[in-house]
Amino acid sequence: MLNHEAIQVSQLIKKYKDSSTPAVNDISFTIKPGTIWGLLGPNGAGKTTVISILCGLLKKTSGDVSIYGLNYQENREEIKQLIGVVPQDIAIYPTLTAYENLKYIGNMYGLKGQELKERISHCLSTFELDHVSNKRIESFSGGMKRRINLIAGILNKPKILFLDEPTIGVDVQSRNIIIEYLNKLNSEGATIIYTSHLMEEAENLCSYISIIDHGKIISDGSPTELLRQHSSSNLEQLFLKLTGRKLRD
Ligand SMILES: Nc1ncnc2c1ncn2[C@@H]1O[C@H](COP(=O)(O)OP(=O)(O)O)[C@@H](O)[C@H]1O
Ligand SMILES: [Mg+2]
Repeated sequence: MLNHEAIQVSQLIKKYKDSSTPAVNDISFTIKPGTIWGLLGPNGAGKTTVISILCGLLKKTSGDVSIYGLNYQENREEIKQLIGVVPQDIAIYPTLTAYENLKYIGNMYGLKGQELKERISHCLSTFELDHVSNKRIESFSGGMKRRINLIAGILNKPKILFLDEPTIGVDVQSRNIIIEYLNKLNSEGATIIYTSHLMEEAENLCSYISIIDHGKIISDGSPTELLRQHSSSNLEQLFLKLTGRKLRD
């Protein structure tokens, strides 16, 4: 496994039923272990579709996806042990407490007993949520819910963490805690796959960036390479140069 790329994608296509154009239109890329990879693009570009296929939540139409040399057709259970997923939509039960939610999710990963208890308590404290462990999620702010959603994705200490717009609609404090944590997790060896439409955030966080528009990757490289290649001073400007549109149009 150590000899493999973290992720290899070739000629990936996804066509949703009843849709005339593919949401993901023949993309190929490789992600090396230890990368913080950012998939950036405007709303509707295909980010959620790509990341959902990479983490096994959505079926591809054609092409190949391998995770540390494994594929979802033959090695789904093995892959599940390697990855953590933080979806764009918050996936926690509002009427349960933070602790109850995380215990439930931990059990799904096969964690239990004292080990799980300690893991939950460690994560809650990392995200500055220990004081609300026994409060129901429905009383949390948006940023606190996002942090719980993130903890749910890291309970099993994944080698690859997928996050779909993890900082959307969060307060500055939560955003900083999340970004700081992603850097720390990465420095401990995890590969991070992250989508965003926030160019500035990605520019600072990511070691490699792919820009997607209309289901195609239109440019990729390290943030510095990308900016140099297109003589742009930031990624917002680069996107405008490549597409003639602003990112938020
Ligand atoms: N379940 C679905 N059925 C049909 N079309 C979809 C579905 N989900 C997304 N799409 C379409 O696929 C395209 C890409 O969507 P998505 O991957 O959600 O983009 P992003 O995450 O970049 O905003 C959009 O045109 C969207 O309308
Ligand atoms: Mg999306």
